Amino acid sequence: MRKKIIAGNWKMNKLPNEAIDFIDKLIPLVKNTENELVLCVPYTDLFYSLLTAQKTNIKIGAQNMHFEEKGAYTGEVAPSMLKSIGVEYVIIGHSERRQYFNETDESVNKKVKAAFLNSLKPIVCVGETLEQREKGKTEEIITTQTTLALEGLTPEQVKNVIIAYEPIWAIGTGKTATSEDANNSIKAIRDKICQIYGQNVSESVIIQYGGSVKSTNCKELFTMPDIDGGLVGGASLDPEEFAKIVNYDK
Ligand code: 13P
Repeated sequence: MRKKIIAGNWKMNKLPNEAIDFIDKLIPLVKNTENELVLCVPYTDLFYSLLTAQKTNIKIGAQNMHFEEKGAYTGEVAPSMLKSIGVEYVIIGHSERRQYFNETDESVNKKVKAAFLNSLKPIVCVGETLEQREKGKTEEIITTQTTLALEGLTPEQVKNVIIAYEPIWAIGTGKTATSEDANNSIKAIRDKICQIYGQNVSESVIIQYGGSVKSTNCKELFTMPDIDGGLVGGASLDPEEFAKIVNYDK
């Protein structure tokens, strides 16, 4: 049985004092969950969030990193820098980074490799635009993005990748993929992984859904056979709402 991983992606929201306040409120609300719970916070909130979440079941992740270990890359953050303060997860290749910051399949692949070199758990985002969906290209786009992101990894590493299927047209729009559609896309990704790395790997890899997940639709999505939890944007900014999503199975 794969576990469910429910991750919040705060994007560019919350000052350190707001992060501390959020986590203090969240701790008692989620203390009994058996789901893995991750908060991916802005760089400036990482240290405060790690301290506040210490000795709880809340794991902390970053939203991006560079693939190089060090050097003249003004403004960038290295994987080892995240690891050194206790960060466990890192989102890689979010569609907003692909769209606004020139993230490519090639840089995503380099970052995934760098994450493993530093014992960080990568949450790799894939997803199609509305135009691609309307042209019937969803499966081709997401399986290609997945294949390229994982290129050169060992089967054991692929087992430990987390993939987040986030249809771009569903992000922040209030439009959610139907649970059947989301499950079909995720199954297509799992089948592709099976084709390349074998069934043992494809049955282990966690694949989340993201895109307008809320407390009102999460149960339907997360109980589909191939959907292993979610990557939650807007609804992860409120502790009560996010706790309801984490506790969808209570
Ligand atoms: P929303 O939940 O706000 O649609 O964002 C989804 C997302 O991009 C999570 O990474």
